[in-house]
Amino acid sequence: MCGIIGIIRQSGNVTSDMVAALQRLEYRGYDSAGLSVLNADGQIERRRTSGKVSALLDLTTKHPLSGPVGIAHTRWATHGKPVEQNAHPHTSASVSVVHNGIIENYMALKQTLIAAGHRFDSETDSEVIVHLLEEALRQGHTPSQAMAWAVPQFHGAFAIVAVFAGDPHHLYAAVKGSPLVVGLGEGEGYLASDALAFAPYATRAIYLQDGDLAILSAGHVSITDDTGTPVTRPIVILPPSVAALDRGPYRHFMAKEMDEQPIVTASTLRSFWDPVHETVIMEDAPPRPRRVDIMACGTSYFAGMVGQTWLERAGIPTQVHIASEFRYRPYFADSDTLSLFISQSGETADTLAALKYVHGQGGRSLAIVNVAGSSLHRLAHHTLLTKAGPEIGVASTKAFTTQLMTLAALSLFWQGGGHAEETGELVSIPGHLRHVLNVTAPYHDLAHGIFRHAQSALFIGRGPSYAVALEGALKLKELSYIHAEALAAGELKHGSIALVDEHLPVVALAPTDALFEKTASNIEEIAARQGQLIILTDRQGAPRLQRFAHTLITLPETTPLSMPLIYTLPLQLLAYHVALARGTDIDQPRNLAKSVTVE
Ligand code: F6R
Repeated sequence: MCGIIGIIRQSGNVTSDMVAALQRLEYRGYDSAGLSVLNADGQIERRRTSGKVSALLDLTTKHPLSGPVGIAHTRWATHGKPVEQNAHPHTSASVSVVHNGIIENYMALKQTLIAAGHRFDSETDSEVIVHLLEEALRQGHTPSQAMAWAVPQFHGAFAIVAVFAGDPHHLYAAVKGSPLVVGLGEGEGYLASDALAFAPYATRAIYLQDGDLAILSAGHVSITDDTGTPVTRPIVILPPSVAALDRGPYRHFMAKEMDEQPIVTASTLRSFWDPVHETVIMEDAPPRPRRVDIMACGTSYFAGMVGQTWLERAGIPTQVHIASEFRYRPYFADSDTLSLFISQSGETADTLAALKYVHGQGGRSLAIVNVAGSSLHRLAHHTLLTKAGPEIGVASTKAFTTQLMTLAALSLFWQGGGHAEETGELVSIPGHLRHVLNVTAPYHDLAHGIFRHAQSALFIGRGPSYAVALEGALKLKELSYIHAEALAAGELKHGSIALVDEHLPVVALAPTDALFEKTASNIEEIAARQGQLIILTDRQGAPRLQRFAHTLITLPETTPLSMPLIYTLPLQLLAYHVALARGTDIDQPRNLAKSVTVE
């Protein structure tokens, strides 16, 4: 978590560009922010504040500072409350540092440093970096020697950027397990957690690798690897992506991103499409494996659950694992099993750790990832890129549906490309999504009706619609802060049905698939206990279920391949409208960050 930007130019003032860059990084955390510049005398000046980057903008407008070199940070708190004192940069007389990640041995280092006379001001793990660097300077090291001496003493994951007083021509960086990318402009340089931060200024980028130390001057970077050997890392040209950062006419990025789903699912499918034979072709996918293990977190994990149902239909035994659990379990790689990692950001710490675990045991990997150039993209043996474009809203929407599209296409590819009927189903999905997005009145009414003061809600479904129900419950929780739980519909009577009363909204996913009658029975059980049923079904199911419904939403007819995508959208719309009615922070819900780079 946390977003870092460092800018070095030959002249001018980098403050406002650093604040703007932090705003683009705010998806990584937004509970406090700060920046340091080296002023005309080469001295460190700093501003910090609790709250979002907009608070830092106010502060630097009221109390301006100026310099051509600086570092800045937007924080998602791990160690220490989100107050100004814990905000980055952490600074001593000679060094200022921003850090993303966790220094696991900070307590031991802190005690040694305190014994050596250092005084700590914050509760963070990050502050030890400053003091250890300061200690190195005290011992007579130059800034680059100080970095080379201090960094190997840190255990854990980190991306660190530092400036040193009296050294206005360099930014210093170190990387292990947290992303950091160098941006090369004309006579200027950037260091950031995500290339998005410097996208308006630089299109050439270098992704630093684990163990790298980098020294950046205006227009040049020198890198050494973990053995201290100078290395050259590849320069990549970044795709134009700045337009995606504009909300356009939408009130929230989430609204924009939900609305983009017909387009981005179509682009994703197009990238796997053989127009001559009208089948799926995935040049970057490995051949059909005997077995698949899927690893992911959060929404991406739910995409994996849906994917499991498709791969099993294709005859491939599949298991889905929560990455944070998987990484600590015994694992026995076998050459028949492919490990499939799903991630929007490609930077989720647990998913990356699971990938490294699998690789360490000799396993093969395929990643489905949205961010090109991300750690997961670079580390996996094979990658399928989703075409969602940058997703700024913290709650995942278009990333999820493009993951689903990719998994659906993959299941057909591993069956030989899919026959016309199935590929036709995929092609028809974007049009259906547009149709669903055009109808918003029911969600507005529900938000201002039974969800207005609801304390809790249930979501139920069976098979793939259970996975979609889980995603619907997560969307409602994270956006509206209403407690929500998803249950496999058949599980309800094993305990949770005790929750049902006339105040409880229950969202039931009931497409007319092979399990429709089973779900219909569960719906009747809830209706018999006065639960307030919001039923999602299609024209065929509507007459059977109408009488049980508080609200019945009729969706297009679906097939096993199209259902998960089409039934996801009403749940996104519901969560969005409930959050709107409750006045919560839709694009940046409390306590969250878009990219979870700590475990
Ligand atoms: C919820 C959400 C998260 C992410 C999860 C994994 O809306 O976005 O649950 O899905 O943190 O992130 P990625 O996909 O980037 O690995």
